[in-house]
Amino acid sequence: MNEQLKGKVAIVTGASRGIGKALASTAASLGINLAIAARQEGPLKETAEEIAKKYKVTVLAIPCDVTKLEDLENLVNKTKEKFGRIDILINNAGVSSQYPFQEQPIEDFERLAHTNYLGYVRLIRLVINDMIKNKSGAIINMVSGSTLCDPLPRNFIVYSSLKVGLRAFSKGLFWELRDHGIKVTSILPGVTDTDLTGKLKEITADTSRLMTTEAIENAVRFALTVPQNVCPLEIAVINQQTPWTAPVIPFKQQHPGK
Ligand SMILES: NC(=O)c1ccc[n+]([C@@H]2O[C@H](COP(=O)([O-])OP(=O)(O)OC[C@H]3O[C@@H](n4cnc5c(N)ncnc54)[C@H](OP(=O)(O)O)[C@@H]3O)[C@@H](O)[C@H]2O)c1
Repeated sequence: MNEQLKGKVAIVTGASRGIGKALASTAASLGINLAIAARQEGPLKETAEEIAKKYKVTVLAIPCDVTKLEDLENLVNKTKEKFGRIDILINNAGVSSQYPFQEQPIEDFERLAHTNYLGYVRLIRLVINDMIKNKSGAIINMVSGSTLCDPLPRNFIVYSSLKVGLRAFSKGLFWELRDHGIKVTSILPGVTDTDLTGKLKEITADTSRLMTTEAIENAVRFALTVPQNVCPLEIAVINQQTPWTAPVIPFKQQHPGK
């Protein structure tokens, strides 16, 4: 429990499992009340009940598809109806699609762009004016360690280039909003053991290459607990043997379906 954060309110997207669930738990452990969002209601409700019981905070489960503007508006409105405020936004929902570019299904581009980029920008736009009015707020965006690679890792270029855009947007947003007392932090995780990476056979075959969510939880705890006049702009938490580094990634990395 953290006295300064106790009773604050956070929205966490993509919080039914994986990194988002871990970060919702981290926020709850600091005494923060939550509105958690994901598309599938069942697992979301289970997560809400589990976190509320364990950390004795209020957790609202709001089914939401971040690709839909009306769902984002509903998420913000329901959170404000229940809690009257939004202090923290942890923008985390994400999907993956790994293919050699020429084989990537064309419909995946729109899904990736709406989930991993536009959903983030739209949700920030929907909460930002209240944060400006309150002269405080914290926005945490889940970027990706793959944005540290140039050129981007093969078979990830659409996913990763959208994350590069998100990273650039986040940094620009901080400079634009810092006079309003709003913090914007990008988290750049390495390859983490979640459903999102579970199907990458070259990456997951050697499990010592995968991180647990623990380092990401610590990074977010740090971002939320630094003094008011400090903003960690970017925190990269990369596993020592991240498979994105050139010598480890096979020359012909295949999609799992191959
Ligand atoms: N795992 C990694 O190695 C890694 C590395 C770097 C960055 N990241 C980033 O970290 C974030 C979380 O990834 P993860 O590994 O925890 O993935 P995950 O285990 O697959 O979980 C994804 C979460 O997002 C939700 N979600 C997916 N699409 C959504 C949508 N359209 N609207 C609302 N919620 C949606 C999912 O629930 P529903 O399916 O029910 O909607 C789920 O709760 C992503 O932004 C990802 O790009 C992950």
